[in-house]
Amino acid sequence: MSDNDLATTAQEMVAPGKGILAADESVATISKRFAALGIESTFETRRQYRELLLTAPDISTYVSGVILYDETLRQGLTDGTPFADILNKSGIFPGIKVDTGAKALAGAPGETITEGLDGLRERIAEYVDLGARFAKWRAVITIAEDGRPTRNAIATNAHALARYAALCQEGGLVPIVEPEVLMDGDHSIERSYEVTSETLRTVFGELAGQGVRFEDMVLKPSMVIAGKKASLQADIQEVAEETVRCLLNTVPAAVPGVAFLSGGQSADVATAHLNAMSKMGPLPWSLSFSYGRALQDPALATWKGDQANVDAAQKALYHRVRLNGIARSGEYTPEMEEAA
Ligand code: 13P
Repeated sequence: MSDNDLATTAQEMVAPGKGILAADESVATISKRFAALGIESTFETRRQYRELLLTAPDISTYVSGVILYDETLRQGLTDGTPFADILNKSGIFPGIKVDTGAKALAGAPGETITEGLDGLRERIAEYVDLGARFAKWRAVITIAEDGRPTRNAIATNAHALARYAALCQEGGLVPIVEPEVLMDGDHSIERSYEVTSETLRTVFGELAGQGVRFEDMVLKPSMVIAGKKASLQADIQEVAEETVRCLLNTVPAAVPGVAFLSGGQSADVATAHLNAMSKMGPLPWSLSFSYGRALQDPALATWKGDQANVDAAQKALYHRVRLNGIARSGEYTPEMEEAA
């Protein structure tokens, strides 16, 4: 595959009016989300839920790609058609989460290093064979008053992200580079800005140092936002302005697109933030969404594990992807939430 193919795929992943559905929860994470709603987690219930998401009518109008988990990329419809084929047929890129999770970082209490580099070259080759077009790796950065994040946590995670991204580009997948600064805690938006800036600077330094081509990747950052427990919460406009200012200071213009994670924001707030940022153009890169919970939560809560609710759940997903698609051009209004 030529470099140019990756650049084209990266651009299409952040095409105007579209975004990426993150549906790559590990078995442990999706089981937790199911448990919260009293849904049993089995190989088959997870398959049913992913089928509901991937076959929701007309989502390809607003969805350019879906990130899958290893188990899901190997699953398909009951007639055996692989999910990757279903997605490709509807013009949606199948993607794959290739990290194996955030594990305790030695010597750094309360911090993590994302693992999954061992054997990654071979796994990438297999995922390409299974139909994947892009990949994702999530690094997790925690803010706390005890000195976190340490320089060590940022540097080791940035290094791993760059090793992953270089392997993806070598093997023919567009890497989504996801350094998530968690919203957990009571930190201010100023502290979020500081940590997000330092993280992004370090990540792009490592990417450059390891020869990763910025044209052939997508950045998936968190927004600059106060901690969930902070008493002072910035309004929509301030989050949008601080996030864009932070990106302008740290993200090279050669990167085709920035697709945000939602990180625990409610569905409507995540959409409103994207909408406010979309009004700030022109910017060097496309601003898009790659939400997990902010796209899926209403659908999962509607489905409840009952196949009789599939249609309604698919409509709930369609509604969310549509509103975020509209937010990409800054034309979303909160009144549109009503028209589900
Ligand atoms: P959230 O939007 O729920 O944060 O999920 C996005 C994601 O892919 C996390 O890795």
